[in-house]
Formats: sequence, C-alpha cells, structure tokens
Amino acid sequence: MAFSSAIREAKVRKRPTKAQLLRIAPVPVTRPCTPPLEDLLPYLQDIWASSQLTNNAVNVRRLQEELQEYLGVSHVNLVANGTLGLLLALRALGISGEVITTPYTFVATTNAIVLAGATPVFADIDPETLNLSPEAVEARVTDQTQAILAVHSYGIPCDVEALQTIADRHGIPIIYDAAHCFGVEVGGRSLLDYGTCSILSFHATKVFNTFEGGAVVSSNPQLNQAIGQLANNGIVDEVNVNSVGLNAKMSELHAAIGLAQLPYVSGQIAQRLAIVEAYLEGLSDVQGLSFVQAKPDVIHNGYMFPIILGADYPVERDALYEILTKNGISARRYFYPIVADLPTYKRSSAIDFEEFVVARRAAEGVLCLPLFPGLDASIQDRIIEIVRNPLC
Ligand SMILES: Cc1ncc(COP(=O)(O)O)c(C=O)c1O
Repeated sequence: MAFSSAIREAKVRKRPTKAQLLRIAPVPVTRPCTPPLEDLLPYLQDIWASSQLTNNAVNVRRLQEELQEYLGVSHVNLVANGTLGLLLALRALGISGEVITTPYTFVATTNAIVLAGATPVFADIDPETLNLSPEAVEARVTDQTQAILAVHSYGIPCDVEALQTIADRHGIPIIYDAAHCFGVEVGGRSLLDYGTCSILSFHATKVFNTFEGGAVVSSNPQLNQAIGQLANNGIVDEVNVNSVGLNAKMSELHAAIGLAQLPYVSGQIAQRLAIVEAYLEGLSDVQGLSFVQAKPDVIHNGYMFPIILGADYPVERDALYEILTKNGISARRYFYPIVADLPTYKRSSAIDFEEFVVARRAAEGVLCLPLFPGLDASIQDRIIEIVRNPLC
C-alpha cells in the first residue's frame, strides 16, 4: 500500500476522543511527541528511493547538520541511543580505570562505565543542583582516576567551571551525560560545549526524540573520528579495522523521524516552559516544597518538573505518589533508588555505603510531576490542587 493511502486509512480508523482518553487513561508523567505523519513521508520516500537504510546515508548526514546548527555546536556524532553514546565516549578516550561519577542518575550512566571495562567511583551530589558536588569529586581523586562522568540532571547544569578546574588540575577528561539537556544554554553558550564531550539521548521520553537515538557532541576532531569508527565496529576502510568497536549507528529511519521532529521542538520547549511556570506559580508558597531551579544565566528546556518534599510537607514523598496515583495521575520517583543502592552496584567493592547522604535524601524526597507539551491546563490545575492539599 502507498504511504499516502496508509496515512489516509489510519486517519479514518475510529479512535477515542481526547476526552475519552483522559477518562480511561491515567495522566502520564510524560507523553512522547510525534511529528505529523505527513512530515515524515518525504524522508521515507528518500530512503525507499535510495535503498540506503543505514551506514551514514543522506538522512543521518542531514540530521547531523541540522542539529549542529540548532544546538550551536561544532560537531554532532549521531548514534543508536544515549547509553551507547556514553560507552563510545569512554572507549574512544581509552578509559579503563576509575571514573568518578554520580550515584544520583539513571542506571545507564553507571552501566556504560562498567561496560567500558572501567570502575565507577561514586561521589555525593550538591543539594542545590542535585549534580556532582565538586568538593566531593576532588576528595575522590586518586592516581587511579582516569575521568569524571557527570550528569546534568533534569537539564540543570553542573557547576561546569569548578569541575573543569578539577579536571584540568589532574589532567583528566570530563564526560557529561547530557541526556536531559537538548537545547539548554548557559551564559549564552550551549551547555553541550563544556567538558571533553557531552552525550544526548533522543529516547522517546526526551525533549527531542527519534524514538530511540542519541548523540556524542565534541569539538575535538580526533575524538569525533574515533567515535565514528568505534560506532561502526572499528572499521577504517574496506580492509582495515583499527579498534574493537560495535554497531552503534543511527539508522536512516530514526534520522528521518528526527528530521520531521526538529521543526516542532522550539514550540514544544516553549510549551514545556509555560507548564513549568504554571507549576511554580501554583506551588511556590507551599510549605515544605522546594524546587530544583536553574540559575538566571541558563536557558532551560523544561524537560522535567521535580519537586522536593521536605520534613514540613504534610505527607511523605511516597504517600503523595500514592495519592496522585489514586487520582489517576502518574508521577515519577526519578532517580530512586540511587544507583549505589541497586543490588548490582551494592556488590561493588568501590562503594562505601555510609556515603551519599545528599543523594539518598534527594532520592527519597523528589517527585517528578507530569510535564509534556499538550498537558491540559485543567489537569495541571487539578495536579496543583492535590499537591497543595494532599490530605483533602
Ligand atoms: C541521565 C540519563 N543518562 C543516560 C540515559 C540513556 O539514554 P538512552 O535511553 O538513549 O540510552 C538516560 C535515558 O533516559 C538518562 O536519563
């Protein structure tokens, strides 16, 4: 069947109305954005016409250029997902020793370190940014330390200057897990420009998605070349393989989705930021609640809205989570538990269980409220009402 008739058929198929969906489905914590199907069609037609489905063909090259322009960075290496991007960066930098990292993250950050053959060494986080504390990092540096892998949680920048000073003093690279940071700027410059390289995730739940996908952003030509080769099984040319790589290439289909999504992303970020503003307006005066907020020189992307429940909030975090769930609203305890407390990582001898007081406190106090373009204002009002009065 031709694409256009397939799209027509999909449109006439009986689907529930928005009101029906809201009645039957709980409010999700996030809802992935998809471009109009018609926008995808020309890119798919190009793929079908060329028969080039992967291996750095026209859509991947086009998306790479458009993202470089949109993000204001010199080089984007597109990859199959953010986790593989982290792994490739570590491999390309030859990291196999200790890597100082945060326990307050999604487990992919730590998994990538272990899969690269290196050892995660956790350091505690800063209570304001919920990102790696530079003092805690400094205290963890030994002669075995080969890199710092920091995460800009929720798109809130790490203390990039302080971390860079530590890295420079010890002559080690900084890799930023910037999975949450699409479009974030600090001091008029892309946040992705800091450190040795930054990794983006284009997973379905992210601000910009290609369903699955990711990128390694770096201005270092040697590093970019190494990442490109490692992502293609270490292949240099028809007869030469110079490293043990893997297949981490983005396909033409995923790049096509990215090309169709990109024109909409600025509008979606604006919608996200308006929702964040409405949450802050509705919740700022609630006793016992605090917020993870970016400094004034940061242009944020509204990826998530984490609230932190303190001791004087009327109920504990898990109780609020249950109350919201009973009201058909999904919230997310993100990140919980901290990676250092996961059974897989508890077994690691590099971890001292008495540490990470700030990270554990954050993991037990944070709740991310629903936030996605298209979140209905009346539903957001209801969420705000419940969070303001959880016991009513
Ligand atoms: C902080 C963080 N790092 C890494 C990843 C992994 O990205 P991907 O799902 O694209 O592999 C994610 C994904 O959710 C993430 O949130």
